[in-house]
Amino acid sequence: MIRRTFLDKSISVIFGLTATLFGLLGFASLAPINSKISKKILTNSNGQKIDLSKTPQNSIQGFLNGKQVLVKKESKGNWKAISTKCTHLGCSVKLNEKRNIFSCPCHGAEFDENGTVIRKPANKPLETFLLKEQKNNLVLVETKNA
Ligand code: FES
Repeated sequence: MIRRTFLDKSISVIFGLTATLFGLLGFASLAPINSKISKKILTNSNGQKIDLSKTPQNSIQGFLNGKQVLVKKESKGNWKAISTKCTHLGCSVKLNEKRNIFSCPCHGAEFDENGTVIRKPANKPLETFLLKEQKNNLVLVETKNA
């Protein structure tokens, strides 16, 4: 009797562990696919692709490669995204449209429209990304100053 109970419990444990293992493997195999999509395509804060045909093209903000960026059109089909993360200590820079620069509210660093430092304490330029239009989405082509 004791042997049969032990056998029943062992079988239950084996089935439970197998189901858990398959569940974890299934979840793990899906995760990289989603993160690859979000890293190379400009998304909104919910991780959804930004559709250029439905977005005012002079004020695009989004997320690329896990970083918040401001995007502007360079020429036909070419776009530039600039990270809003200050290279001094990581505060969010703000676009000063009047002066066409990025200003950091924390310690006063300033960057020109291309992300180059024009006022310390920051020493490194803002991270920039070159993007291309692809089926009404913006796709990462190259990262600079990373
Ligand atoms: S964090 Fe931006 S200037 Fe210090």
